[in-house]
Amino acid sequence: MINRETLEKEYPNYKRCIKDAFELGQSHIFRWWDEITPSGKKHLLKQTATIDIQFVHKLFNDNLHKTKNTLQGDLVPPHRITVPKNASELELAQRVGQIGEASLRRSEIAVLTVAGGHGTRLGSNGPKGALPIAPISGKSVFQLHAEKIRAVQQKYHTCIPWYIMTSETNDRVTQDFFQSHRFFGLDPKRVCFFTQGMLPAVDLNGKLLMNSKSNIVMSPNGHGGMILALKEKGVLKNMEAGGIKNIFYCQVDNALIKIADPVFIGHHLKNEAEISLKIVKKRHPEEKVGIVVHSNGHLQVIEYSELSREDMYARNGDGTLKYDAGNIAVHMININFLEKIYHRGDALPFHAALKKEPYIDEKGDTINPETNNAIKFESFIFDVMKYVEKDVIMEVPREDEFSPIKNMDGENSPATARQDMVNLFGRWLRNAGISIPMDNHGNVIGLIEINPCFALDEEELRNKIDKHLQFNGNLSL
Ligand code: UD1
Repeated sequence: MINRETLEKEYPNYKRCIKDAFELGQSHIFRWWDEITPSGKKHLLKQTATIDIQFVHKLFNDNLHKTKNTLQGDLVPPHRITVPKNASELELAQRVGQIGEASLRRSEIAVLTVAGGHGTRLGSNGPKGALPIAPISGKSVFQLHAEKIRAVQQKYHTCIPWYIMTSETNDRVTQDFFQSHRFFGLDPKRVCFFTQGMLPAVDLNGKLLMNSKSNIVMSPNGHGGMILALKEKGVLKNMEAGGIKNIFYCQVDNALIKIADPVFIGHHLKNEAEISLKIVKKRHPEEKVGIVVHSNGHLQVIEYSELSREDMYARNGDGTLKYDAGNIAVHMININFLEKIYHRGDALPFHAALKKEPYIDEKGDTINPETNNAIKFESFIFDVMKYVEKDVIMEVPREDEFSPIKNMDGENSPATARQDMVNLFGRWLRNAGISIPMDNHGNVIGLIEINPCFALDEEELRNKIDKHLQFNGNLSL
């Protein structure tokens, strides 16, 4: 192994990161120095220079001392707007929807999708958005989102720019995917990719993990990295220059997402909210969704992995879950609020997650661990909630708006997303008077796919559909 003095002498430009690596117990990253190629050496030094080793050290130590799964204290379920239950609530929703539509027509809304994650639970190599999921056509998640954006543009004669956050690991392949599909009919100038930052993964003793003799394992810094990326890559400025006032924020992985829903936009605008959130009722205590609560007077999302068991299982007198407001990660965010958060300067906290990460051991052999061996640090966008002065929380029916793709099979997989889409389209058709057969579990028997450009919602479908249509088990509109 090379010593510090030689390294510093040979590479004076990298003196600072070499010093940090040796002084903070990370010199093992140079263990194979004599074996690696000149380009490997260059890569390793450059990579090390992008890492703030002191900061990573601090993150690791802070997390060692954090007590997990303790009661968060004084949690209060949030007040929420629910699905209209009577004529006056319906009328209100319609009026609010018109406010949202007007803003869409004025081209003040952008869509922002966070798609920088690794999707490790899914076990697929490519971006999650490239997964084929449409029930009949097999269109990808990205294509379904793009078609919804196109449909909203057509409906309101407007233009909706789409910002997609990727990370270094999936940016190229994501952009190539869009290019090879000609941006799914969207104007390429209106689809803007930007990358989030990266942080190294450490082992359970805080040592930087390597997956080759010249490469440190790096991982996206969490969707909270969006704030810095938006500002520092000039994206926020670009939005402001284009007249954008509010962002419709969503994750890439929700197959039933109602993109740029005018009623949601309308509630957000009417209440002059800084952030608005859509929620669904949690299915069961251990469902892997964050919960939305008020804590010590502030709005907060507590991630499922950080919720105490007591709070997770807490029930009301009638047996329903006390903290039932499941975060579906659909938000409206005012862009002035993003500016405000950026300028506050106190960055979002980092959360540590234990993961299984392939690495090379002291002998240089690759190990695919069977148990968690790595700690990754991520900041979460929803930690900005505590700075929010005005918010709106809107509860929506899960079966209409939330079907996430997290696992390869079983719950929350491409198969359940497909079935949920078919069931949603089946309900629309049934409510339009078409007979659709169902099995004992309430699933449609057969396949249905409705292109958003044909009908974005039930009402549009009702106006277009041939009432005499006979469903023969396979319908594509
Ligand atoms: C997430 C939410 C959870 C919510 C659930 C709903 C977090 C931390 N938790 O959980 O509160 O109830 O979705 O489905 O988000 N991403 C990035 N960059 C990153 C990390 C993630 O862009 O560095 C993106 C992913 O591409 C994905 C989204 O963020 O679109 C969510 O990431 P994921 O790891 O799937 O979060 P969950 O644990 O499922």
